[in-house]
Order: sequence, then structure tokens, then C-alpha cells
Amino acid sequence: MGENKLTRQLFRLKSLTSILAETHEAGPKLKKALGSFDLMVFGIGVIIGAGIFATIGTAAAGDALRLGAGPALIVSFAITALVCGFAALCYAELATLIPIAGSAYTYAYASFGELIAWIIGWDLVLEYGVGTIAVAVSWSGYFNAFLRGLGLSLPAWASMDYRTAWQGFSQAAGIVKSGSSFEQLAPALQHAWTAYASAPHFFGLPIIFNFPACAIVLLLTLILVIGIKESARFNAAIVTVKLLIIAFFIGLGMFFIKPHNWVPFAPHGFAGIKAGAAIVFFAFIGFDVVSTMAEETKQPKKDLPIGIIGSLIVCTLIYMAVSAVFTGMVPVSLLSTTLANQKAEPLAMAMSYNHLDWAAGIIAFGAIIAQTAVLLVLQLGQSRIFYSMSRDGLLPSPFAVIHPKFKTPYVTTILGGVFAALIAAFANIDEMADLTNIGTLFAFVLVCLGVVILRIKEPHKPRAFKVPFSPVVPLLGAGACVFLMTGLPGITWIRFFVWLAIGFVVYFGYSLRHSLLHKP
Ligand code: ALA
Repeated sequence: MGENKLTRQLFRLKSLTSILAETHEAGPKLKKALGSFDLMVFGIGVIIGAGIFATIGTAAAGDALRLGAGPALIVSFAITALVCGFAALCYAELATLIPIAGSAYTYAYASFGELIAWIIGWDLVLEYGVGTIAVAVSWSGYFNAFLRGLGLSLPAWASMDYRTAWQGFSQAAGIVKSGSSFEQLAPALQHAWTAYASAPHFFGLPIIFNFPACAIVLLLTLILVIGIKESARFNAAIVTVKLLIIAFFIGLGMFFIKPHNWVPFAPHGFAGIKAGAAIVFFAFIGFDVVSTMAEETKQPKKDLPIGIIGSLIVCTLIYMAVSAVFTGMVPVSLLSTTLANQKAEPLAMAMSYNHLDWAAGIIAFGAIIAQTAVLLVLQLGQSRIFYSMSRDGLLPSPFAVIHPKFKTPYVTTILGGVFAALIAAFANIDEMADLTNIGTLFAFVLVCLGVVILRIKEPHKPRAFKVPFSPVVPLLGAGACVFLMTGLPGITWIRFFVWLAIGFVVYFGYSLRHSLLHKP
């Protein structure tokens, strides 16, 4: 293949006209029924999940790989909200310019060409697929906390991952060395020890397996294959539960704040705040999903930006309040030790720490419901991305097969679900959340740059919403996302590049030749 021809192929564009024509082909148009308030409710339903329920523990306390923000976690949230705000504006412009499903993958196909579209599609697996795993692990943590509230428990070996168990050991050992009290040591060591000691052994190796995380993903896979009609009423109910449970945490936790826990405010300075910001980015993932509702929005020009930005603002305020209460309830110095084996359920842990076990149970119950909804959306998103890529010929055609009876893309749904479930059984929440974050941030960078490129290439196409001060704001957005990416640990970057490298092998080995673009 000549060099020029290859370059042409790699950067072949799907024209906006043909993308929009596909929507027309797709049968009856979707009903334009949603207003800005509906979009906001939908956004909150998707956004609030494991980020606030789970990752804030690590963001505040740090872990072996990074420093924590401490009580300055609230500043981390403000920084991340700003970064997401820039990206949200860009999403809103592209969503109104290209109002069809497929999100960033489709935008990239129109703005950068096929290779970058492929990279984004492949990368979105990290947002949706790996994000699923992280939320599943958090779900499992709260499921266990809920069981504990009922006086029941799963064996420790069937409800955690290897790294968490190991961390329990090593942290406990560290505390022994520094001569801390047994009270500090006990919970971490005991939990980890129970996991090892009680686990069934296979050729001398203890089997540690997160059963609830694996089971919930498989269960939701089944539901998604059969197909659900997520009604607005169902979503509103879920959002109500989320808001109530968070209000409960803030309302009760407030009375257990000890202001001295807020001092020192930023124990690790800006480095800790930045690392915290990169972790809590997970809590904002999902506002981009709102952009995919463009086709169903009554007045996209007005409703979409209000919906996307509005849900971001509401979530940011909630997150800042939760982080202030959380860091006021538990001394940061103790967080890391107490958290060692309850990484995935810090809000319940904060209640238990203050001898409010009953409240921990209630929070756990709300968190289970809230995160089930997030899991559904992430798993749905994952199957639809592979479906879109397969329809374009970039993945083998069986991925695009629709179930004759249920009318769902069942092959991608099952494959994605089984993989995610298997990994969730062994994965560590921090590792998975970091990988999700880097992948999603990278997609955001490309979306921001896509706005600039499409303004140049397609200046006359009607845009119902325009990012103000372009190209300054989109470029700021791209830069801000890169800045957050640099707050993630080195090992996450390595995993990210390995994932992209695998993607290149698949693209050059298969997709390049099978792409349906420009084929009759
Ligand atoms: N933002 C979503 C969550 O926190 C992904 O679970």
C-alpha cells in the first residue's frame, strides 16, 4: 500500500452529511420530549455513583502510589468541576452539531478521521467497560456493609480482592513498626487476616474472589440482553433515592464533625490536592452521556447546555458538601488505616467510625441502589459503542447482531458483561478507577480539540449551541484534562499505553481493511 494511500485511509472522514443521513435512515425519529430539567435529572442519575461513594476515601487519604488531599478534598472537587465544565461546553456544541448516538466516537469520525475515531472508541471501553468494573467493586463494598448492618456477612475471601487484602497486611505491619495502638491496627489486620486464613486454597494459593461484584455485573448483563425501557419515572425515583441518601449523610454526619479533623487543611499541599482531583474525576463521569440525548431534546440550543452544565453544578455542590462532612467526621491520619479494607465503602465507614452502625446500613442500602443505576448506564454505553464500531466495519460484524426477539445488541452486551464480571472478581477499585479516569480524560481532550477542528472544517454547519470564546475555551479544556491526567500514577499511564497499543494491533490487523467507509 502506498504511503499516501495509507495516510488517506487512516484519516478518512465520515462526512457530517452522511452521519446525519444515517439518523434519517434509522426509521422514525426519536420524540423530542425532553426539557432542560429532564436532562438535569437524567444527568444526576448517571453521574452520582462510586465516585462519591467510594473513591473519595483514597482521594482524601492517598495510597501507596500518591499523596492524599486531606480535608482540602473540597478544593480537589472544585478543580475537577472546572475541568469538566470546559469539557461539558464542548460536548454540548458537538452534541447539537451531530445529534446522534455514539457520542465522542462519532464526533471524532467526523472531525479527525478514522484512526482517531478508532482510538476514541477503543478508549471509551476504558470509560464504560473499566468504569463498570470500578463501580461494581464499590457496589460490592456497600453490599457487604449492608449485610453487616443486618448482622450477616459473606466470608472475607469472597468479598474482596488480593491487593486490598495485601494492603491490609502491609499497612498493619507498618503500624506495628511505628508503634501505633492496637485499635488502629485491629480492623485492617483482622479483615485481611480473615480473608487469607479462611480462604479455600488452590495449590497453596489462597483464593480471594469478589463474588458480589462479579454477580451484579452478570445480573445486569442479563437484564440488558432482555432489554429494559428505562422510563423517566424510574430514573426520577433513582435520583430521589440518591439525593435522599446523600442528604441523610450530610444531615446526620454534620453533627459528628470535629473541626480539628480539618487541620491541617492540606497536609500534602498542592500535590495532594491535584492527586485528589485526578481521582475524584471519576465522580463526574457521566455528564457526557447527557450529550447523547441531543436528538430527544425539545430545544437543544437552550436545554442541552442547561441540562449538562446544570447537572454538573448540582453534583459539584453535593460533592463539596459530602467531602467537607466526610473529612470532618474521620481524622485523615486514621483514614488510610481504617480504610485499608473498606476502600470501597468510605461513607459507611465514616458512620461506623462514629458508632452509627445503623446509619451505615441505611447509607449502604442507598448506595447500592444509586450504583446499580450507574452500572446499568455504563454497561449499556459499552455495548452501544462496540455496536457502533462494528456497524462501521471496524469490529467484526457479529458484534452488531441484534437479538431477533429482544432487539438488543446481545453479542456485545454478553461479551462485555462477562469480561467485566470476571475482572471485577479480582480487581482493585483504585486501579480500575484510575484507568477509567485516564481513558475518559483522553477522550475529553479529543472532544475539546474536535470542536476547534470542526469549526475550521465545517464553519457553516448550523450549531444550535456554540462554545463561547472558541478556540480559547476548547483549548483550555483540552489543557485542563491533560493536567488532570498528569495527576494519575505512572502505572496507570503504562496500563493506558498498553491498552492503546493493543488497540493499534487490532486496528491495523483488522479494522483498517474491513472499514465500511467509502465502500459501496
Ligand atoms: N460518575 C459515576 C460514578 O461515580 C461513574 O459512579
